Amino acid sequence: MSSFVIEASGLSKSFGQTHALAGVDLQVRTGESLAIMGASGSGKTTLLHCLAGITRPDTGTVAFQSGAGRVDVTALSERERSRLRREAYGFVFQQGLLIPELTAVENVALALMLNGMPRLRAEEYGRGWLAALGLAGMEDRRIGQLSGGQAQRVAIARAQVTGASVVFADEPTGALDSTTSAEVMRALLDSTTGQGRTLVVVTHDADVAGRCSRIVDMRDGRIVGERVPGVSA
Ligand SMILES: Nc1ncnc2c1ncn2[C@@H]1O[C@H](COP(=O)(O)OP(=O)(O)O)[C@@H](O)[C@H]1O
Ligand SMILES: [Mg+2]
Repeated sequence: MSSFVIEASGLSKSFGQTHALAGVDLQVRTGESLAIMGASGSGKTTLLHCLAGITRPDTGTVAFQSGAGRVDVTALSERERSRLRREAYGFVFQQGLLIPELTAVENVALALMLNGMPRLRAEEYGRGWLAALGLAGMEDRRIGQLSGGQAQRVAIARAQVTGASVVFADEPTGALDSTTSAEVMRALLDSTTGQGRTLVVVTHDADVAGRCSRIVDMRDGRIVGERVPGVSA
C-alpha cells in the first residue's frame, strides 16, 4: 500500500477569470496532519474541495488510496464521488454545518443512518463519540444550546463516526476564541491522527497549523512552500 492516501497532480480550477488553482501537485501522507495555509483568496478551500472530491478540477487528477485499492476520484461520476465522501471522508467546516433543529446526538447519528445504520444503534454509537470528545451529558441538547466550541466538537464527532479514513477541515476554529480554538484543535487531532486517520486542515491560524505535522503555503492558486512546524524553511 502506498504511503500516500491522496495524490493530486496538475490541479487547476478557474471561476470565470479567477484562477483559483493554477497548477497544484500535492501528496497527502497516510496518518499525517497537513495544514494548508495562505491568505484569503489564495485557493485553500478550492484545493480542499478538489482533494475531497467535492469539486472537479478543470485539469489534473486526484487519486485516493485505501485498503481496497487506488481510485481515480476525478474519473468518478457525481454519484460515485458522493458515496466516496460519505463512506471514506469526514468533514468539519467553520460553522459545523450542523442541523440546529436536531440534538447533538441526532446530528452525529444522522451520519451513520445515512450509511444504513439503524437509528438506535447509531445513537448509541454517537453517544460514545460525544463522550470521547468531552460532551457527556450534552447529548440531548440542540445545537443552539451549545457553545461554539462544543458545537465544533459535535461536528468533529460527526466527522469521525463513520470510520472516515481522511478528515477534511476548513477553518474549523475560525469562529472561536484562542483558548477554545486550542481545545477544539486538540480534539480534532486526538480523534483523527490519534486514531490512525489522516487530517487535512485549511487554516490561516499559525497556532492551529503549528500543531500539525506538515504545513503547505499557498499563494495565488499555487503551493509556494512547505514546512514542518517548529523548523524554519
Ligand atoms: N464558486 C466560486 N465562484 C466564483 N469564484 C470563486 C468560487 N470559489 C472560489 N472563488 C474564487 O477563487 C479564489 C480562491 O477562493 P478560495 O479557494 O475560496 O480561497 P481561500 O479559501 O484561500 O480563501 C478567490 O478569488 C475566490 O473569490
Ligand atoms: Mg476558504
